[in-house]
Amino acid sequence: MSSILGSKKVLIGVTAGIAAYKTASLVRLFIKSGAEVKVVMTPAAKDFVTPLTLSTLSKNPVNSSFFNEEDENAEWNNHVELGLWADLMVIAPATANTLSKMSTGNSDNLLLATYLSAKCPVYFAPAMDLDMYNHPSTHETFQKLQEFGNIMIPAESGELASGLVGQGRMAEPATIISFIENDILDKLPLKGQKVLITAGPTYEAIDPVRFIGNHSSGKMGIELAKAAANLGARVTLILGPSSLTVNHDFIKVVPVVSAASMYEAVTSEFDTCNIAIASAAVADYRPKHIAEQKIKKADSNFSIELERTTDILKWMGSVKKDQFLVGFALETENEEENAKNKLKKKNLDLIVLNSLNDKGAGFKGQTNKVTLINHKFEIKAFELKTKTAVAQDIFNEINELRNA
Ligand code: CTP
Repeated sequence: MSSILGSKKVLIGVTAGIAAYKTASLVRLFIKSGAEVKVVMTPAAKDFVTPLTLSTLSKNPVNSSFFNEEDENAEWNNHVELGLWADLMVIAPATANTLSKMSTGNSDNLLLATYLSAKCPVYFAPAMDLDMYNHPSTHETFQKLQEFGNIMIPAESGELASGLVGQGRMAEPATIISFIENDILDKLPLKGQKVLITAGPTYEAIDPVRFIGNHSSGKMGIELAKAAANLGARVTLILGPSSLTVNHDFIKVVPVVSAASMYEAVTSEFDTCNIAIASAAVADYRPKHIAEQKIKKADSNFSIELERTTDILKWMGSVKKDQFLVGFALETENEEENAKNKLKKKNLDLIVLNSLNDKGAGFKGQTNKVTLINHKFEIKAFELKTKTAVAQDIFNEINELRNA
C-alpha cells in the first residue's frame, strides 16, 4: 500500500536541539513511506546527531555549510536548488533560535538560506524547554511564521531534557508523519470525492474456452485511478481482464470479465460517485448464445450471431444527477466531429479523443496523445505524453471545469 508521501521529495532541516537524535527515526519513517529525502543541518546540529547517520538513512549527502571547508575543490552547496527541489520541507527539531531567525529573514547558515528559497509548504516542529516555549517572544515567532504560511507541528508535553515537565518536547516522529499526511490529504482537491473508473477490455464468451476481446491493456484507466487517488479521491476501479495490477490505499479494484458484469458493477457504484470516467474498451456486441461445450470445427464456414451489449456510458449519461461524466472516443476518421456527437448523444461533460492516426496513441503502449472536448465544444489538444501525464492533464481539466 502506498502512502500519500510516496512520491514526495522531502527536505528535512535539523537544528541544534537534543531532539535531533529523533530526527534519525523521522528520516527512516519518511524513507519507509516511499519519500525521497535530503537533509540540511545547521552547523551546531552536528553536535547532536552525525551527518553520517542522516546521510546513510536518507541515502543522500547531508549538507550543513555553503562550502565544505576541508575539500578545496568543493562546490558551492546551492540552497536555491535545494529549496526548489523539495515538495515539502520539515524543520525538526526547530529551536527557538532558528525559528526566530526564520521569522526575521536571517540567512546566516545553509538551512536558513534554503528555507528562504523554498517555495514548497514548510512544516516546523518546535523543540525547546517549557519556559522558552511559553515566552511571549516565542509565541510571537510562532504566530509570525504561521502568518507567513508555515505550518506548525505543536510540541508535546512531558519530561524535558532539563528534567522539567511541560510543553516543549518535539512531537514524536510518527506523530510528525501522520500530522503531515493528514495536512496534505486535507488540502487535496478531490478530498471526500468518490471517483468511478471503468478500464481494460471485456471478454465476451463464445464457448467455455473462447471469447471475443480486444487489445486494451487497462493502463490508461489505471493511471487515471492513481491520479485521482493521489488527488485525495476514493476510487472504485472496475477493471476488465488485465495483466496489470494496482496497489493503493484509496483504490478499490472490482475485477470483471464481460460487458454485462461491468455494467452490473457500474450500476451499484454510480449513484454515489461524484466523477465517473469510462475508459474501458467495452465490446459493443456479444455472442447471442454461449455454447455450453467447446465448439467443434466442421468443414463448412461458421458464423456466430451477435447481439448488442448495453452501452454503459450512455446508461450513466441517462441517469446522471450531479455526477461529472467523462467518456473516451477512439476514432480513425472525422475525429472531432464524431467525438462531439458522442459527447452529446451520451450526455457527457467531457470527452477524451484518441485518434488512431496519431503515432504512440491508443490501446497498448505507455504513451497517449489526446484531445479534450468539453460540453461547450471547447477543444484542447495535448502533445504525446506518458499515460501517467495524460491522466494528470485529464484531472486538471476535470477540476477546472467542476470549479468553473
Ligand atoms: N462504452 C461503454 N459501454 C459500451 C461501449 C462503450 O461504456 N458498451 C464507453 C467506452 O468506455 C468509451 C465510450 O463509450 O468511453 C466509447 O464509446 P463509443 O465510441 O460509442 O464506442 P465505440 O464502440 O468505439 O463506438 P462507435 O462504434 O460508435 O465508434
